[in-house]
Amino acid sequence: MKKEDVLEVLISEERLKQICKDLGRQISKDYEGKNLLLVSVLKGAVVFLSDLLREITCDCRIDFMAVSSYSGTKTTGVVKFKKDLDINPDGCDILIVEDILDSGITLAYLKNILADRNAASIKICALLDKPENRRSDIVADYVGEVIPDKFVVGYGLDYDEKYRNLPYVGVLSPAVYER
Ligand code: IMP
Ligand code: MG
Repeated sequence: MKKEDVLEVLISEERLKQICKDLGRQISKDYEGKNLLLVSVLKGAVVFLSDLLREITCDCRIDFMAVSSYSGTKTTGVVKFKKDLDINPDGCDILIVEDILDSGITLAYLKNILADRNAASIKICALLDKPENRRSDIVADYVGEVIPDKFVVGYGLDYDEKYRNLPYVGVLSPAVYER
């Protein structure tokens, strides 16, 4: 990648650390004595999950689901199911951990699938929320930061599978996807 691919740093490493601390403290309080199962959505949310997980002090387990709806910088509106949970979520308090809530189509789809699994509760924790682009009535119960409708990369978020390794969240230069 070239330096000019990222227009600006939107959320710094320090700020990301603080967001995980704050969310972790709140989640630990809310889920004390419950049967917490963190369900992370591959692949974008894995960096967030690994930092958030270490800020959670109550008992919890983790599992992964994989779906995709993106092609380049645009959602296709059609969600493809790629990987199911390994742990049976029956009786669990599920907290879906997502990198970003954009149109909401992905999370609406996931919530729908999980709704049939006898979970005790299902909530959503999204690192980033882009409310301007919402096309479903999904709301996140925990949000790290609300951001404007710009395509962002880094800290797990990709453009065509690249830029996930950036330690911050930055705005991708349109020059990259208009190339
Ligand atoms: P939604 O279904 O439109 O809410 O999209 C959610 C998924 O789209 C996220 O889990 C991301 O994988 C991807 N996504 C949405 N906005 C961005 C972005 O700005 N950068 C990278 N990926 C994004
Ligand atoms: Mg994702």
